[in-house]
Amino acid sequence: MTHSGDEPVHTPDPGEATSDRVAGIFGRIADSYDSFNMLSSMGIDRIWRNAAVRAAKLTTGMRALDLCAGTGDLSFALARTGLPREVVGTDFVPEMLAVATRKMAGFKGSDLSFSVADAQALPFPDSSFDVVTVAFGVRNLPDRAANFREVYRVLKPGGRYVILEFSRPPFGPWRGVYHFYLRTVIPVLGGTLSGGDRESFQYLNDSILRFPDQPALAAELRAVGFAAIDWSNHTGGIVAVHTAVK
Ligand SMILES: C[S@@+](CC[C@H](N)C(=O)[O-])C[C@H]1O[C@@H](n2cnc3c(N)ncnc32)[C@H](O)[C@@H]1O
Repeated sequence: MTHSGDEPVHTPDPGEATSDRVAGIFGRIADSYDSFNMLSSMGIDRIWRNAAVRAAKLTTGMRALDLCAGTGDLSFALARTGLPREVVGTDFVPEMLAVATRKMAGFKGSDLSFSVADAQALPFPDSSFDVVTVAFGVRNLPDRAANFREVYRVLKPGGRYVILEFSRPPFGPWRGVYHFYLRTVIPVLGGTLSGGDRESFQYLNDSILRFPDQPALAAELRAVGFAAIDWSNHTGGIVAVHTAVK
């Protein structure tokens, strides 16, 4: 981006998602991402992804698209059911997809492929998927509404968008414990696993804290035309799975 002399240069605050910042962070942490996930969530991330798979209500022969697929864990979980005819995992950071592709060796399930795509401008025709999923991805998008419009466009009528994302625990004391954990343990753990890159993990925390709560995210989905919007809380609302129907 270029700036004229008079134009103020925008310096993003610590939790703000900009495409360059997000691509840089995930490009740097790709190789430590899976270990970080497993350790920071104490393995619960697998249970959360399984909840997203159940919410997708897959049936035989569906086409599923997993956005912000990263190292592929939700794409694999969808394909492992063997139900969809095809699962396409996409992400805009090739380093993350390279890890996903390495994990394909010996995999058995539905037809699964990974390709590069920006979740805010999808390279797919209108009405081409039965289900679109995203796990821990929409929080990183500078323009969520653009993503919601794109997902609405590529879904078939009656198709379902499933969003697994960090959210806001409704019970205050539990929220306090969780926020303390986020602010103290995560930057240290992330910094250690990534060889000192505490800043990236600080961003991840701040982006969680500034993300809309459950009803506010539902309202954003409604605003672009989705219907039958619902959500379920998991681990006391640390994460929520939203579903929305075209
Ligand atoms: C926290 S990771 C989640 C990865 C995976 N879904 C999971 O559950 O582990 C977020 C991913 O979103 C991707 N991402 C961020 N912004 C994106 C965009 N605009 N388009 C596509 N992918 C994006 C990042 O590259 C990263 O791989």
